[in-house]
Amino acid sequence: MTEKVDRQAHWQQVYETKAADAVSWYQPVPQPSADLLKLAGAAPETGIVDIGGGASTLVDWLLDEGFRDLTVLDLSDAALAAAKSRLGGAASRVAWIAADVTKWRPARLYDIWHDRAAFHFLTDPGDRAAYVDRLRKALRAGGHAIIGTFAPDGPQKCSGLNVERYDAEKLSAALGGGFRLVDSCRHDHVTPWGAVQHFHFGTFMKL
Ligand SMILES: C[S@@+](CC[C@H](N)C(=O)[O-])C[C@H]1O[C@@H](n2cnc3c(N)ncnc32)[C@H](O)[C@@H]1O
Repeated sequence: MTEKVDRQAHWQQVYETKAADAVSWYQPVPQPSADLLKLAGAAPETGIVDIGGGASTLVDWLLDEGFRDLTVLDLSDAALAAAKSRLGGAASRVAWIAADVTKWRPARLYDIWHDRAAFHFLTDPGDRAAYVDRLRKALRAGGHAIIGTFAPDGPQKCSGLNVERYDAEKLSAALGGGFRLVDSCRHDHVTPWGAVQHFHFGTFMKL
C-alpha cells in the first residue's frame, strides 16, 4: 500500500467515525484564521482555497461574511461530506475538491491559500516539496499563504500521526525563496476537552 493510500484511509476513517465537533482540532469560531484572512486583504471576491479544510467551520464563517469564491480541498471525501451536509443548500456556493494536496493539479489561481493543520503532517521532505510546488502553482503573485501548524512547543502528534512543528523561521525555510513573511503569530487552541495546543501561524506573500 502506498503512503498516499494510508493517509487517505486514515483520514477517511477519522471522519467516518467521529463527529466534526468531537476531534481535537475542532473550533466553533475559526480564529486566528478569520483575522489573518482580513490581514491578507480578503474581500468578498477574493479567491480562497482552504487546504486540508476537512469539516472545518471556516467555510461557514466565510459564507456568512459574504465571501463568494471559496474552495475547500481535503484528502477525505467523508470530511467534505460532513461540511456539505452541515451547510445544506449553501454548500453549492463552494467548490469541493477531494484530493491529496501533494498530488493535486490546481486548475486555476487563487488569491489566498489557507492551511490550518494539514502541512504539519507532511513529515517526508519529498511530500513537503510537492506541497510547495502546488502552492507555487496555485497562488498568484502578490497572493497570500496562511499556514497554521503546531508550534515548536506544540504536540508532537495529532490524530495519532507524527507532525513536524514550526516557527516562522523554519516555516519560511520550508517554503523556500519567492515568499515574504508578512506576519507570524502564536495561537493557543483549546480542544473540545479543554487541552491547550500551541500553534504557530505564518502569513506569507508570494513575490
Ligand atoms: C487536523 S485536521 C484539520 C482540518 C481543518 N483544517 C481544521 O482546521 O479544522 C487535518 C486535515 O488535513 C487533511 N489532510 C491531511 N493530509 C492531507 C493531504 N496530503 N492532502 C489533503 N488533505 C490532507 C485531513 O484529511 C484533515 O481534514
